[in-house]
Amino acid sequence: MTSVLGVGIATLDIVNVVDGFPAEDAELRALAQSQRRGGNVTNTLVVLSQLGHQCSWAGTLADDSSSEHIRADLAGFDVNLDAVNTLSGGRTPTSYIILNQRNGSRTIVHHRDLAEYAFADFRRINVEHFHWVHFEGRNVAATRRMLEHLRKVAPQLPVSLEIEKPRPAIESLCGLADLLLYSRCYAREQGFDGIDDHRGPAAFLHHMRRQAPQADHVVSWGETGAYALARDADTAVFSAARHLPDVADTLGAGDTFNAGIIDARLRGLSLSAALDKACTLATEKCTRHGLGGIQATYSYLQPLR
Ligand code: FRU
Repeated sequence: MTSVLGVGIATLDIVNVVDGFPAEDAELRALAQSQRRGGNVTNTLVVLSQLGHQCSWAGTLADDSSSEHIRADLAGFDVNLDAVNTLSGGRTPTSYIILNQRNGSRTIVHHRDLAEYAFADFRRINVEHFHWVHFEGRNVAATRRMLEHLRKVAPQLPVSLEIEKPRPAIESLCGLADLLLYSRCYAREQGFDGIDDHRGPAAFLHHMRRQAPQADHVVSWGETGAYALARDADTAVFSAARHLPDVADTLGAGDTFNAGIIDARLRGLSLSAALDKACTLATEKCTRHGLGGIQATYSYLQPLR
């Protein structure tokens, strides 16, 4: 069995399902409400765990009652919490989410005042028995130290880094990862709006590869599909989004896509095959609420190395 370490956040997601997105200053009644454990890295780990990987989370938790919900959820998906740092007096980060049942869109208002995972905590982890380490691109200064540490103590260990939002100096992390997973939002912020070939997803990937030639680069492009550029390839590859008659819930679809890429790469698939698998997996996720039950419908599973 392969072991994956994920470094990033966990949140309490308060999800309100509504029939159509509200106008500003409107008052409306939710059709349903649920509380879920969220956060990009923990979402990705929960999916990877269901795909057969042994997952461990490195992040911070508060010691309030909401953090119990997070612990229980992760434990239910067999995610190991030994590396978690529990901060006394802290409050669990929350996301208030409007989930529009007409199109599955999710609008997130996130709040956190809990400290992020520190380099001192990371340094205590014995990274040698992991087969892959995945980072959320946040907390830039500490993450850079973690990446540099990994490069020193375990230079062969594959490392992926999600770059979802523009953050000061986040590009300084790119040269330290083997696989970079970008969001369309980040590409847009860099001026690649997809309107023509010079400013589209493939041009974005070439632009990023010039900054980080050692890495493979992947960008998801919403309902269009996803693109990838391998470190040694001349051109980017594309995988079209699968048609979905009914989108139920897109919350965590990007995190599921990232899990699909990591899973496929751990199984030894090419970058282009990984892109296809990840698109299928993310589409599957959008047909149902939450992140459970992934393995039941996901048919490509092959034995892990
Ligand atoms: C989805 C998600 C939510 C969380 C928010 C944090 O990708 O991880 O679960 O509330 O994003 O930014």
